[in-house]
Amino acid sequence: NDGQCCPMCNEGRVVQKDCTVYSGTQCRFCDLGTFMNQPNGLYNCFPCTSCDTGHGLFVKQNCTATTDTVCDVLNGYYCKDLIDSNGCSLTEKHSHCAAGQRIKEPGTSRSDTVCEDCQPGFFSKDGVSCTAWKVDVVCGRTSSQHYFVFLPFLLCSVAFTSLVTG
Ligand SMILES: *[C@@H]1O[C@H](CO)[C@@H](O)[C@H](O)[C@H]1NC(C)=O
Repeated sequence: NDGQCCPMCNEGRVVQKDCTVYSGTQCRFCDLGTFMNQPNGLYNCFPCTSCDTGHGLFVKQNCTATTDTVCDVLNGYYCKDLIDSNGCSLTEKHSHCAAGQRIKEPGTSRSDTVCEDCQPGFFSKDGVSCTAWKVDVVCGRTSSQHYFVFLPFLLCSVAFTSLVTG
């Protein structure tokens, strides 16, 4: 009434009764499941955030009268919406790499899986790792294989012989 504001309530409390000319602000503690993290002149505490297990979150830190719940990310998920570098409010499942790809970097709680195409000559059925094609030695490719083994050998022999004979 005299142009001065009522004193604020501390963290963990809200206003039960405004001050009067004769008395200060009356404050009350936040009920279970609610919190107040700043000095305030409010009448209601904030409801605590709940961490939704069905959406890849778990309680990292329980709600107190002065701090909200902190949620973190379950295995197999990564955070899409980080709060304060600590908590998370939204997650997504790690991607699976497609056939023909490998996992270049596994997903973490902060980042999705990084996939990479297999190099030529490699294959991947499961999208996990790439395996080299096997060279088929049975079905008529023996001659070309021998060619690749014997040609360098032949060249070496010629080189060696010419070296020795001057
Ligand atoms: C949170 O509180 C619940 C119930 O009181 C308890 O079971 C759980 O262990 C607590 N979690 C943490 C992270 O403190």
